[in-house]
Amino acid sequence: MAEPKNATAPIKIMETAGTKAYCQCGWSEILPYCDGAHSRMATGCSPIVCEVPADGKKSICQCRLSATLPWCDGAHKQLNPPPAAPASA
Ligand code: FES
Repeated sequence: MAEPKNATAPIKIMETAGTKAYCQCGWSEILPYCDGAHSRMATGCSPIVCEVPADGKKSICQCRLSATLPWCDGAHKQLNPPPAAPASA
């Protein structure tokens, strides 16, 4: 069985103004948008429905750790810490 998508980086898009439904279950085939898969897969999740006031660049959270869902706040960086610097001699 396939796995839900749970990326460790946001999806960056040029969004258009209007009402949007952003996927929170990770099963959508049209990420970052909901395609109803959360119901078909009985995930218990619901999309985040929000109003985008104007066209513009958006970073849509995909790790689901952001405190500002559906927008990325950089929380995914705790999942991908940068490599440790080499020890100095
Ligand atoms: S398809 Fe994922 S929340 Fe709807």
